[in-house]
Amino acid sequence: MTGTVHLVGAGPGAAELLTLRAARLLGEAEIVFHDALVSKEILAFAAKARLVAVGKRSGRFSTAQHFINKQLLDAAKRYRTVVRLKGGDPMLFGRAHEEISFLKKHGIAVEIVPGVTAALAASAELQVSLTRRGEARSVTFVTPRVGAGERESRWVDAVLAADTAAIYMAAGQAATIAQALIDAGKPARTPVAVIERASLPDAKVSFATLGNLRALEAPAAPALIFVGEIYREAAAAAVSGEPVLRRTRRGTTRRSTSRERSSPPGHTRRCPGSASAASSRAGSSPA
Ligand SMILES: C[S@@+](CC[C@H](N)C(=O)[O-])C[C@H]1O[C@@H](n2cnc3c(N)ncnc32)[C@H](O)[C@@H]1O
Repeated sequence: MTGTVHLVGAGPGAAELLTLRAARLLGEAEIVFHDALVSKEILAFAAKARLVAVGKRSGRFSTAQHFINKQLLDAAKRYRTVVRLKGGDPMLFGRAHEEISFLKKHGIAVEIVPGVTAALAASAELQVSLTRRGEARSVTFVTPRVGAGERESRWVDAVLAADTAAIYMAAGQAATIAQALIDAGKPARTPVAVIERASLPDAKVSFATLGNLRALEAPAAPALIFVGEIYREAAAAAVSGEPVLRRTRRGTTRRSTSRERSSPPGHTRRCPGSASAASSRAGSSPA
């Protein structure tokens, strides 16, 4: 008997954003290999499974991909339902291809279960449509991150070509990214939104421009950087303290309170459920 390996998207963090299929498979799984970013609440769905952390986190201990592949193969020879649980969607910056091709080469059945990718959860926090009608007709998902032996990333060209860019795995290099885009001809006044821990109670949204992004407090991982004109209005509202729709813990939306509005105008706001609004060290609003 060989089992099936299910590559399952865990979504951006909030357990409620798991798909029903993901929750069912976690409940059925005998063994779950999971990424570092997957929360305890989500792992709790895998009540009867053996949990194996194979997290890859930049700068920290990580399990080599070839070793993960081998572990998945061995598990498929032993168990009927094997889950490989990946943050967000497995098919986006998740090294799914390596696992799929390795397992298929060894005759193992593979199923993919999509998840909510970070860019979509971050857009929900911002309440700004990635394809705002009349303004943005193209979106690019890029990362400047390049692994050893891989070809150079053409992320700068991709960002220049698209109306809106979602930059993954780049939080630690915000200043370098901004400079590379300015050097390539993107105006320094282009709005930038940085979203940390999208979908989680302590999510945080900050605004800057390419020109002053370096002044923004270093975002805590995981974080996503958006670049595009569609963030100009939201950035201006954050600075002026205009009311923005905030989501409550229950998922409904409400207007920000007058107390929240009277907090010092800054470029950063804590998202629903977080303790307080915060101001950032970034300079002026997008011009
Ligand atoms: C290795 S990539 C995996 C992406 C994942 N497969 C997805 O679809 O979201 C990890 C990067 O995703 C982004 N990310 C993941 N979860 C996030 C979250 N909750 N909020 C903001 N960014 C997140 C960050 O840029 C992080 O460095």
